[in-house]
Amino acid sequence: MSTGKEGHILCFFINGKKVTENHADPETTLLSFLRGKLRLTGTKYGCGGGGCGACTVMVSCYQPATKSIIHYSANACLLPLCQLHGAAVTTVEGIGSTKTRIHPVQERIAKAHGSQCGFCTPGMVMSMYTLLRNKPQPTMEDITQALAGNLCRCTGYRPIVDGCRTFCQEANCCQANGGGNCCLNGEEAPDESELRKPQLFDKEGFLPLDPTQDLIFPPELILMAERSNPQTLTFFGERMNWVSPASLEELVQLKTSNPQAPLVMGNTNIGPDIKFKGILHPLIISPTRVMELFEVTQTPQGVWVGAGCSLSELLSLLEKLVPQFPEEKTELFRALIQQLGNLGSQQIRNVASLGGNIMSVHPNSDLNPVLAAGSCKVSVVSKAGGRREVPLNQDFFVSFGKTILKPEEIVVSVFIPFSRKGEFVRAFRQAPRKESSFATVTTGMRVFFSEGSRVVQDVGLYYGGMGPTTVSAAKTCAAIITRPWDDETLSRAYDILLDELVLPPSAPGGKVDFRRSLTLSFLFKFNLEVLQKLREMNVITDELPEKMQIQPLPREIQPSLQEFQHVSEGQSDQDPVGRPIMHRSAISQATGEAVYCDDIPRTDGELFLALVTSSRAHAKITGLDTSEALRLPGVVDVITAKDIPGKKVRTMFGYNEELLAESEVSCIGQMLCAVVADTRAHAKRGAAAVKISYEDLPDLVFTAEEAIEKSSFYEPRRVIERGNVTEAFETVDRLYEGEIRIGGQEHFYMETQSMLVVPVGEEREFNVYVSTQWPTLTQDVVAETLDTPSNRVTCHVKRIGGAFGGKVTKTTILASITSVAAWKTNRAVRCILERGEDMLISGARHPILGKYKVGFMNDGRIVAADIQYYANAGHTVDESLLVAEKILLHIDNAYNIPNLRGRSAACRTNLPSNTAFRGFGVPQSITVVENMINDVAVVLGRPVDQIREINMYKGLAVTHYKFEFSPENLLRCWEECKVKSDYSARRRAADQFNQQHRWKKRGMSIIPIKYGIAFSEGFLNQAAALVHIYKDGSVLVAHGGTEMGQGIHTKMQQVASRELHIPSSKIYISETGTNTVPNTCPSAASYGTDANGMAVKNACQTLYQRLEPIRQKNPKGSWESWVEAAFFEKISLSATGFYRGPDLHMDWDKMEGQPFSYFTFGVCCCEVELDCLTGDYRTVRTDIVVDIGRSVNPSVDIGQIEGAFTQGLGLFTLEELKFSPSGLLYTRGPSQYKIPAVCDMPLRFNVYLLSDSHNPHAIYSSKGIGEPILCLGSSVFFAIKDAVAAARSESGLVGPFSLDSPATPERACLACASPFTQKIPASKPGSFKPWALNI
Ligand SMILES: Cc1cc2nc3c(=O)[nH]c(=O)nc-3n(C[C@H](O)[C@H](O)[C@H](O)COP(=O)(O)OP(=O)(O)OC[C@H]3O[C@@H](n4cnc5c(N)ncnc54)[C@H](O)[C@@H]3O)c2cc1C
Ligand code: FES
Ligand code: FES
Repeated sequence: MSTGKEGHILCFFINGKKVTENHADPETTLLSFLRGKLRLTGTKYGCGGGGCGACTVMVSCYQPATKSIIHYSANACLLPLCQLHGAAVTTVEGIGSTKTRIHPVQERIAKAHGSQCGFCTPGMVMSMYTLLRNKPQPTMEDITQALAGNLCRCTGYRPIVDGCRTFCQEANCCQANGGGNCCLNGEEAPDESELRKPQLFDKEGFLPLDPTQDLIFPPELILMAERSNPQTLTFFGERMNWVSPASLEELVQLKTSNPQAPLVMGNTNIGPDIKFKGILHPLIISPTRVMELFEVTQTPQGVWVGAGCSLSELLSLLEKLVPQFPEEKTELFRALIQQLGNLGSQQIRNVASLGGNIMSVHPNSDLNPVLAAGSCKVSVVSKAGGRREVPLNQDFFVSFGKTILKPEEIVVSVFIPFSRKGEFVRAFRQAPRKESSFATVTTGMRVFFSEGSRVVQDVGLYYGGMGPTTVSAAKTCAAIITRPWDDETLSRAYDILLDELVLPPSAPGGKVDFRRSLTLSFLFKFNLEVLQKLREMNVITDELPEKMQIQPLPREIQPSLQEFQHVSEGQSDQDPVGRPIMHRSAISQATGEAVYCDDIPRTDGELFLALVTSSRAHAKITGLDTSEALRLPGVVDVITAKDIPGKKVRTMFGYNEELLAESEVSCIGQMLCAVVADTRAHAKRGAAAVKISYEDLPDLVFTAEEAIEKSSFYEPRRVIERGNVTEAFETVDRLYEGEIRIGGQEHFYMETQSMLVVPVGEEREFNVYVSTQWPTLTQDVVAETLDTPSNRVTCHVKRIGGAFGGKVTKTTILASITSVAAWKTNRAVRCILERGEDMLISGARHPILGKYKVGFMNDGRIVAADIQYYANAGHTVDESLLVAEKILLHIDNAYNIPNLRGRSAACRTNLPSNTAFRGFGVPQSITVVENMINDVAVVLGRPVDQIREINMYKGLAVTHYKFEFSPENLLRCWEECKVKSDYSARRRAADQFNQQHRWKKRGMSIIPIKYGIAFSEGFLNQAAALVHIYKDGSVLVAHGGTEMGQGIHTKMQQVASRELHIPSSKIYISETGTNTVPNTCPSAASYGTDANGMAVKNACQTLYQRLEPIRQKNPKGSWESWVEAAFFEKISLSATGFYRGPDLHMDWDKMEGQPFSYFTFGVCCCEVELDCLTGDYRTVRTDIVVDIGRSVNPSVDIGQIEGAFTQGLGLFTLEELKFSPSGLLYTRGPSQYKIPAVCDMPLRFNVYLLSDSHNPHAIYSSKGIGEPILCLGSSVFFAIKDAVAAARSESGLVGPFSLDSPATPERACLACASPFTQKIPASKPGSFKPWALNI
């Protein structure tokens, strides 16, 4: 929007084309410009805060000083448009397209099966592309670094890394070996049978990397950059102005006149503040063109680095300097290199500046503690004070966000000194996730000894994460200085440090005991390293026993194995069933051409909808004032419950849920009303201006315990029992009672909830474009909300950017509200949730409290178990009752427990309503059971795998709901997994490792899963399809399943290809639409392929039979000739197909039934290495054997297995939803909520599909696989628990112990009970209000 003021013309290039903006708005980011203005929608929005990498682009700039061009990856969501003057931006569309030529990176990620839903793919492609621009033959380390800031929720990363690995020089050797046995590892070349094994992809045909195909840097920009006399640039926006001075004098002048205006460099601190905290800066000063801020000067004492240098530039500078100097001079440089390598992601480091990091004064800054410990200083300038040097010491960091500098002072450069002989500097950090995560605690430590002595001359210890800003442990330093560095000094130092760095028990950020123990652990680690140095310098002679040494955790990703069966010998080459066919949209996803909901072009007059949600957990609404919102520019209307023409509530299981709350709210995040405006920004501002007044209501219920106390449940609560548990308890050798809490899990689909409702303009007809797993439910709910018949509402789902259960019910409510806005305004309305809103509103996986009592014999047989589950359902029932039922149907997992009782309750609480999530309660269910079995083993002092084996189903088995099945393939998976993983030998090796290491432990576990497939509500087991053959022979298939990355369209294409006997290339699937296939069931319960595959098969068989007479007349004719002939003979070339699935049922009164069609079996063995001092761990190896019958598409199925496992790994070891004591979700973005990233991949990740397995219950003898393997993520949890047990035994602690899920570094470290954690005095429960609820 023009402001009337004339600013400069912004000039830059995108994909080789010049862009000039006459009225660049400083509030516009590159991402919104690309997507909104240029319609380059390949660059995706995933979080808006630099935390997910979906928006990655490459920025190229010309540097006149060196006459060179630099390329770097950056997050478009944080790049202010105005910052780009003179730059060239390359987006995914700029490197390749299906219209011209795809780029090798796009090809290889796609063909290696690295794109499932595809929403992360353009970002992955651009990170990798930028790496290749800078280094055409990268190492694996380069690749994992480049991808560290790109999140993928679908694949588990292995296929992406494998696709990228093909660019590595080192990888080219071992690829042909099928991985695993790389000749570079010194292992033998594979035998012929290995070479004959089918491969997931063939790299031989890949396009070569050809740098001549890259866009050249625009010469015009070189001229622009070299032009002398650069002028000040000014841009004026609606609410914000932007000035970019061209000289230091001008910058000083500007800052003097506007001391409160921020200096925006990388915008990685200011940007998120503006976006997420709503901070408005009327003026931004952008000093990126002030040369002095980028100068680097070396002196005999160290190096002055310009404050404007990016952290990546600083890193490569230091890496360049280190080899040039003796080791003793570069202690500080190396400590900084280590910290920089782990700070943020590459995209962040490429733009974030050194001065910005210091001046952001983030309490968890990784650099500040090291810079301070290393006696660095800054050179600052201001008009009044001129130039001065200020030491970066404890006085510099004043308080949260504040330094000692005056507001008008500008940091010009930072001095990083050389270290002296006898001086050691180290940095340590521990973060919730190994990479791309702010640290929980971070530290810089320095000690200086006089020559040849262990007496400390000087010492500096600084910590981040221990208060509102970087803090110095000055008292501890005082206790160390002038003393010899020995046990006595150190042991005093620990005690003083403990007293000095105290956190109140309710400190913001929580994890108080962990943070305090980390301060000690880091000092201890520092001590070990210093002792080693003193030993090397012959100052001390006593050797540190090997057991006490600490080596870093392993991190090298090894090639892995994916084994599957060849198709049978007689199968025609044209028949794609059973072959590893690439996801049919993978290439379009990799080129950014694939269209997701928010990529649909805007229609004329389209409006944007933003929601207003409750800020109270339980309150009466006493007022809703929309007047101010309605006065704001662009705001068109506010939609409240009163505007809903039809049904205002959605009823599930007898409970009503209001679409928009009218009189009362029952959780923070409940939707109250919605603002529609001409732009997204205006709608958001409008929503912020709606004023709601509340009157709080009593009786808040948040936790399972509170629900139990207040009997706050959704009914019915279910019980199932076989045998007689109570009596059996009387007969057993031993009884044990335990409990485990399993936290919830955010879906974190990369594409947030998205929908666009377009009124057709007549007879109340609407087109709803929506990202949902259940188009029919959306259609039904929208229709009843608008009080119109379903035949006027058509839902279209082209593809979904990840769903995982979160886009079934929740989407329908959002779509209904959006449709009311479209109906009322008679204009198209789009609603795309921001990541934070999505996380707040749309619910998660149910947190579970599991309690059990188990009776067993001394020989390991479990005779009886009584298990009680409490699922935290939240403020509406949603699908919680079904989740609670499915939990009970899996309490046997793989075990035959003759007397087994399960009870489950869905707790009604004042938290957002939880919903379906891949596995639907089963992962939580079996983890409680496996924990119980673990306890039995520990009580008996037996290996837990033996207890599992003893109790496993054998022979003809009957479940606790009287369902007969054969566990043969379960047992085959178990045996095969033990063999493939070399379980026994590695178990012994792990035990030996544990004896040899005090501070690191290895843990192993092997876990089975028996997972019931299909819907227990029998009516949902149905599907339909519609297949058209057009006169040119091309075929259009429509079916009821939605494509959300699981590859259902690819599989349906394979089915149609087999049944019609034509190549897949003739078959197309456009979308899932309620106008082509009505009354569909959700794509869920791992049943999509089973049901829709049969329907497509049915339709195709009908058509094939219809063509039979034509074929007989002309057996040698082509497909096209038959189709043409059929048309002229008036044979219908369109057919519907239908599949009536099994009539499954469960009778809860009789406690019996057939709730599943069959079982998918799997077994997973994991090994981890744990750092007991920090809780950091690495999954060293994972082997999974899965029985999925005859896979329809092994690449798609292995993708599901790896992706689900990784999501399970996240659930059980990483992902934590944190709520405030008043019920507000704190974790509302990737900065606070960590899903697995590349760094979490098992270093060796092998998947084997069980051979020679058949399944008579599903298409082509296959089995459903979407969900089951998520449960096996728990094997990482149990491997960690195993490692923790080994650590505890060092502290003399034996017997069962409690470890809740997720086993985060915090929980693992505290459970290890090291001498340091034991020093932390426990806070008295009840004496304080914890920072977060324990739900
Ligand atoms: C996703 C993400 C992950 C991150 N992870 C980490 C991490 O793991 N560890 C870590 O330490 N940090 C991390 N950060 C923080 C990041 O390092 C800082 O935000 C960054 O260094 C700030 O630099 P900037 O150039 O982007 O600052 P800007 O946002 O541009 O500015 C920040 C502040 O610094 C001031 N400023 C900038 N330059 C100067 C100057 N020369 N003189 C005076 N004042 C100045 C500005 O006025 C402003 O107030 C992360 C940030 C993000 C978004
Ligand atoms: S959208 Fe930019 S990093 Fe997530
Ligand atoms: S393919 Fe990576 S998020 Fe879906």
